[in-house]
Amino acid sequence: MLVSGAGTNLQALLHACTDPAYGARVVAVGADRDGIEALARAERAGVPTFVQRVTGHRTRQEWDAALTASCRQHDPDLVVLAGFMKLAGSAFLDAFGGRCVNTHPALSPSFPGMAGPAEALAYGVKVTGATLFLVDEGVDTGPIVAQTTVPVEDDDDVATLHERIKVAERAMLVATVGRMAREGFTITDRKVRFGT
Ligand code: GRF
Repeated sequence: MLVSGAGTNLQALLHACTDPAYGARVVAVGADRDGIEALARAERAGVPTFVQRVTGHRTRQEWDAALTASCRQHDPDLVVLAGFMKLAGSAFLDAFGGRCVNTHPALSPSFPGMAGPAEALAYGVKVTGATLFLVDEGVDTGPIVAQTTVPVEDDDDVATLHERIKVAERAMLVATVGRMAREGFTITDRKVRFGT
C-alpha cells in the first residue's frame, strides 16, 4: 500500500485484514515522505514500511525505479494507493499496471486531480463521492472498479464535504479490495468485473 498522509484508508484496510475471512493482508506500506501518520499506523500494526522521497533521487525516473524496486521486494498481488500524492511513472506501471488501484475523492470522470472535493463544491454539484480505479498513465483516468456517492449539503465547506466522502471512501475501499482479492477481476474495454 502506498500513502502520503493521514492514512485513514490504510487504517480501515489494516482493520479489515484482522479478519481471516477478509482474504487479504497488507504486506508493506510505502510512502514518498517521512513523519506521516500513515507510516506510524503501519508501524503500530507491525507492517514493514519504506520511504522513497523524490528529492532523494537525481531524476523522477530514478525515483520511479526505486519506488518500483521497493514495492517488488514485498511481492504484492495488488498495490493500493490511498492518498498517495505522486503520479506513478513508466517503470511502476510496467511492473504493476493492471494490478494497482487508487482511490480518488470525486466521481470520475468529474473533478480529476488534487482538488476533487473543492472543485465539486465550487461547481455546485448536489452529489459527489469517491472512485476506486486501476492506475494508468493519466490523472485519475483508469478503468473504474467501484464508485460510492454522498450528498453535498448546503452548509458544507471543503473539510466537511471531504470528511463525508472519506467515510464512504473507506467503506468502498475495504469492500472492493476484499472482493478483488477473494474473487479476482478482469478488465475488458475499461469494464472491470469481479471473477475470473
Ligand atoms: C483520500 O480522500 C484520498 O482519496 C485523497 O486523500 C485522502 C487520503 O486520506 N487523495 P487518508 O490519508 O487515507 O486518510
